[in-house]
Amino acid sequence: MSDIEALKQQLGGLQGEALAAFAAAADLDELGELRVRYLGKKGRLTEVLKGVGKLPPEERPAIGQSVNAVKQALAGALQEAEGKLAAEAARLRIEAERVDVTLPGRRRPRGAMHPVHKGLQEMTAIFSQMGFAIAEGPEIEDEFHNFDALNIPPEHPARAMHDTFFIRDMSNAEGEPMLLRTHTSPVQIRAMRRCLEEGEPPLAIVAPGRVYRCDYDVTHSPMFHQVEVFKVDRDMSLAELKGVLQHFLSTYFEKDVPIRLRPHYFPFTEPSAEVDIGCVFCSGSGCRICKHSGWLEVLGSGMIHPNVLAAVGIDTDAYSGFAFGLGVERLVMLKHGIPDLRLFFENDVRFLRRMGA
Ligand code: PHE
Repeated sequence: MSDIEALKQQLGGLQGEALAAFAAAADLDELGELRVRYLGKKGRLTEVLKGVGKLPPEERPAIGQSVNAVKQALAGALQEAEGKLAAEAARLRIEAERVDVTLPGRRRPRGAMHPVHKGLQEMTAIFSQMGFAIAEGPEIEDEFHNFDALNIPPEHPARAMHDTFFIRDMSNAEGEPMLLRTHTSPVQIRAMRRCLEEGEPPLAIVAPGRVYRCDYDVTHSPMFHQVEVFKVDRDMSLAELKGVLQHFLSTYFEKDVPIRLRPHYFPFTEPSAEVDIGCVFCSGSGCRICKHSGWLEVLGSGMIHPNVLAAVGIDTDAYSGFAFGLGVERLVMLKHGIPDLRLFFENDVRFLRRMGA
């Protein structure tokens, strides 16, 4: 076979092979590789062309035509394959992104306020509407605000009864140990002091917040919430205290609940009273929850002890006050019939949902 015949055969074989390969390419990447393999600088066509150089000059034009024809055929086939693969790729992309507009919308789970926080806001709002200003104090307190200024001296048994969490390696400017407040009553001290810096009583405050005691069972949690309410003015009386309590408790429970004040002892109030409401479960006829007494204890209260007023420098001849502190969890439990305090803190969504969350 002459050289030129052999070259033509090679060209023919190359064309057939390349066209078949282009048509079989699975995607544009593969097609790109094939382009390089057949038409690239070091590709198969270049390889064949090397043979053309060896031909005698008069034979070259004829083979040149064949080469051009093969080039054109390959270029055309490449373009065609490219167009097909690009169209297929676009179709797949559109398919993947297609939105079925007839599908129902996806519901997003909705969050809600925790029942304790909701209760806290409801209670605070009732006092706010009665004219009490909202105040807050720090959860990390010193012994002065949590105990001493509230007429609980160091040796007082009430200190031991408070199951206090002390904070290791932490003290205030006077070197006194720091603790997690065991009640919201220290806000009384802070608010009265602030009041005196700016002027004189009257002072009416509602102070919601977290408190801490080293305790955990069905009715006690190491962290719980209280709302402290107090008023300092001229001529404060148990009658005004009772009126505020009556209005608050009836509003919170959304019915006329009977209340009674039972003599009690708190170091920071004198006289002191525990406040009971007629049992909201049996309306006073006696049930398991009120231990057949018809009454439920809900909070501690009293007339602010003169020692407390004096500790912050309020003139006890001119002024007196009342104060009470209530446990938020307890009131929320009574309002909604929740049997176990720990339910509030376990974050079981089934419970939270039932509470309207
Ligand atoms: N601080 C008391 C407690 O936590 C409650 C209380 C507040 C009692 C104000 C009387 C007056 O137990």
